[in-house]
Amino acid sequence: MKVFQTIETMRAASRSARIAGQRIGLVPTMGALHAGHLSLVRAAKDQCGAVAVSIFVNPLQFGPAEDLAKYPRPFDRDRELLEKEKTDFLFAPSVEEMYPKGAVTHVTVESLSEKLCGKSRPGHFRGVTTVVAKLFHIVEPDAAFFGQKDAAQVTIIQRMVRDLNFPIEIVVCPIVREADGLAMSSRNAYLSSEQRKQALALSRSLMRVKANFQHGERDANRLIMVGKEVLTSEPAARLDYFEIVDPETLEPVSQVQSPALVAVAAFVGTTRLIDNLRLDQTS
Ligand code: PAJ
Repeated sequence: MKVFQTIETMRAASRSARIAGQRIGLVPTMGALHAGHLSLVRAAKDQCGAVAVSIFVNPLQFGPAEDLAKYPRPFDRDRELLEKEKTDFLFAPSVEEMYPKGAVTHVTVESLSEKLCGKSRPGHFRGVTTVVAKLFHIVEPDAAFFGQKDAAQVTIIQRMVRDLNFPIEIVVCPIVREADGLAMSSRNAYLSSEQRKQALALSRSLMRVKANFQHGERDANRLIMVGKEVLTSEPAARLDYFEIVDPETLEPVSQVQSPALVAVAAFVGTTRLIDNLRLDQTS
């Protein structure tokens, strides 16, 4: 695996791979890798001849009171995990490399960026789309791989790609969960063993909504009530939002007719966790 810290060397490697006829896959991450991230790397390896993984804790997507400083950065461990997956390129730039002094240009996907997590994390999605657009320009991949874990992020990136004509296929991979249902996240590392159990309230609330849907309930408000009830029955969890939305517009739906996205965010202690699932007429 070749490790690059500069934009110039990363771009040169990617261009040589392209000239050699390889399809290039990009997996953007913030590191502290777990099985969820690695599932994206494997999907990319399956579909592409050369796979680049980026590790960059992007300051632009963190709010002033958020966990930028304490976000885990186990770089050596991440590098070993990526070696084992036979990753071709690891791109790990510094903040100065990505945002040289005077950088003032941003990419904003208007309106969508204020939905779901965008409501409680103002500026978050603008930070995500700006860094992802930069990574797309640096690596110039044919395909980029994202997790359904961050469902709104996927919707917003797909819209950016469409609106700005990036010639890139966006591949969405399913949520990887722990055996007990907890969605894997780098932020799970913040949880004590007690909080780890309390955090199960998120996936439990989604499962209950799914069960009610499968029993025929189609009224979004009633499904939301059921989900919120499960979540609030865990006193250690503080609900941020529980919504059922159209996966493309992220607008709330009143009846679940076509695929709908059930999305939840809650704090356990000071750790903010998210989870989601899709409801389909067939599921
Ligand atoms: P990060 O949280 O490190 O996630 C990197 C990618 O891994 C994202 O596409 C995310 O959806 C996916 N992922 C995380 N947990 C997952 C799980 N349990 N199952 C499947 N996929 C999972 O998302 C970001 O970083 C950043 O916003 C980024 C896109 C890199 C821009 O900075």
